[in-house]
Amino acid sequence: MKTLDTYDFSGKKALIRVDFNVPLNDKYEITDDTRITATIPTIKKILKDGGSCILMSHLGRPKDGPTEKYSLKHLVNPLSVILGLQVKFADDCIGASASEQAASLKPGEVLLLENLRFYKEEEKGDVTFAEKLSKLGNVWVNDAFGTAHRAHASTAVIGQFFEDRVCGYVMQAEVVNAQKILNHAERPFTAIMGGAKISDKILLIERLLDKVDNLIIGGGMTYTFTKALGGSIGKSLLEADKMPLALELIAKAKEKGVNLIMPVDNLCADAFSNDANRKVVKTGEIPEDFQGLDIGPDTIKLFTEILEKSKTILWNGPMGVFEFPNFANGTNAIAEAVVKATEENEAFSLIGGGDSASAINNAGYGDRVSYVSTGGGALLEYMEGKTLPGVAALE
Ligand code: 3PG
Ligand code: MG
Repeated sequence: MKTLDTYDFSGKKALIRVDFNVPLNDKYEITDDTRITATIPTIKKILKDGGSCILMSHLGRPKDGPTEKYSLKHLVNPLSVILGLQVKFADDCIGASASEQAASLKPGEVLLLENLRFYKEEEKGDVTFAEKLSKLGNVWVNDAFGTAHRAHASTAVIGQFFEDRVCGYVMQAEVVNAQKILNHAERPFTAIMGGAKISDKILLIERLLDKVDNLIIGGGMTYTFTKALGGSIGKSLLEADKMPLALELIAKAKEKGVNLIMPVDNLCADAFSNDANRKVVKTGEIPEDFQGLDIGPDTIKLFTEILEKSKTILWNGPMGVFEFPNFANGTNAIAEAVVKATEENEAFSLIGGGDSASAINNAGYGDRVSYVSTGGGALLEYMEGKTLPGVAALE
């Protein structure tokens, strides 16, 4: 696989697939620019070599062609500020104007193309569309780890039209760090899994049972475990059809000698709202009209003690509904414990993308852990052992 450091971009027009699928508020302001800032070293290396950059990305999931809400033009100014140079914009990713702008791009310049998903051909992995895109540059760089699990035109199919396919810094770091966790973890190795559904995490949990010393389970999915064990969960989240699976996982953990740790208490609410009435109850004793929305104080203590003694930590998924400030305590406390293990116990800590990445960034701890992944689904699939089309296209 060609990497950025072994490739000289002087005089080249690099067509770079980035994942600029960032959250925007209703004023089209970026609320988390992690994915943009992550790609800056890739762009700067190419410019420094004397090359130019043509950036292509999707944003959201537009269904019917061009939509104001999903236009990448909203990213031009913030990206220009971060890069410290005026980024040019093509209001279509293919066609005459994109070709002309790409052709007249000079070394040191950056051009951002309009949303690839304004063409349905992108998600279909259309070969003709991929070939049209490929004409814009003479070397393809893939730095879109967050979209590497998609076999789309710009993420994978396009590779066949380039002699030179180069792995970007983000892509490289993601793969190296995921491999480090999966194959070279120092012990004790603790995985802490959260989020709403067991079904999203089952394959990863099963794989981790062969690797970890401690598996901590928190977040919405714990209630399915509790119910399966005969406890009362009131109106908490439940995947009824996954109860047998939950019991199977408990048995497997035991068989493999993995220390499986679940919440011992929960912060419950009488409605799904930040302003609901709250009370802390023991696991399995949630009253009829209540639902668990966060882990409780004894659980925080229990999880924290394990994390602080760990040498390798993988965290994926929040401990509760952290979007409600009154139920963010558990998730924030875990973020603090991961930081403490990283700084004081020299642990290697990898934070899975998506919600856990937002949680750690919102808490201001993003640069105090070892690595925050830019991938949500892509990281999960990579860690499950699947081949990612975006990575395979570089090989
Ligand atoms: C993501 O945020 O998951 C990636 O950008 C991929 O987007 P998608 O899930 O809409 O394919
Ligand atoms: Mg996704």
